[in-house]
Amino acid sequence: MEQKATNVHWHEGEVSNIDRYRMLGQKGATLWFTGLSGSGKSTVAVALEKELARRGRLAYRLDGDNIRLGINKNLGFSAEDRKENIRRIGEIAKLFVDAGVIALTSFISPYRADRDAARATHEAAGMDFIEVYVDCPLEEAEKRDPKGLYKKARAGQIKNFTGIDDPYEAPEKPELVLKTADMTLEDEVQTVLKLMTARGILFDV
Ligand code: ADX
Repeated sequence: MEQKATNVHWHEGEVSNIDRYRMLGQKGATLWFTGLSGSGKSTVAVALEKELARRGRLAYRLDGDNIRLGINKNLGFSAEDRKENIRRIGEIAKLFVDAGVIALTSFISPYRADRDAARATHEAAGMDFIEVYVDCPLEEAEKRDPKGLYKKARAGQIKNFTGIDDPYEAPEKPELVLKTADMTLEDEVQTVLKLMTARGILFDV
């Protein structure tokens, strides 16, 4: 994205993210959950946050519906708005990581290019970005229909609904795939924790 403001420069502080990681006894990282509406992104993020808290690790959930009620309340569901939604979340998650927090983002984030841009901004700053594909067949998500939105979309009451009349581009090389139709929530949480440990995110500072 083009830099609009001119004459602005990064102002370095005197406390680094490494200092903050030491203070908190943990390293910041982003776990990026992507998948269809109703696939289980928020459910696994909530359970993971709870288990991390039990282990004394500070995580914070950035959740599609919640964020769209606040900072992103001026965005809808056009491709352009979804792109801006994800761009802002990528930047916000990065701030959390810099602060030393484990950011758990759960957004459909249907476009590969938008997710890749969020990854690129993390990786350019040397930050961990773990893409978790919450893989659930459309039929199953539609059967669950926790918010009754698929029914409305099928009835033509919601336009551009992901999976119905709007695209979802599955990740090609996610760090992790959770097949939520075949796994228990506990297994999903343990699988993510295992990867976080292997990636050195849950090391003791
Ligand atoms: S994203 O595509 O921009 O990543 P996001 O995760 O923030 O979407 O928001 C998706 C949530 O908004 C869904 O879980 C659903 O509750 C609601 N929603 C409302 N309209 C739509 C729509 N047209 N497509 C997808 N989700 C929608």
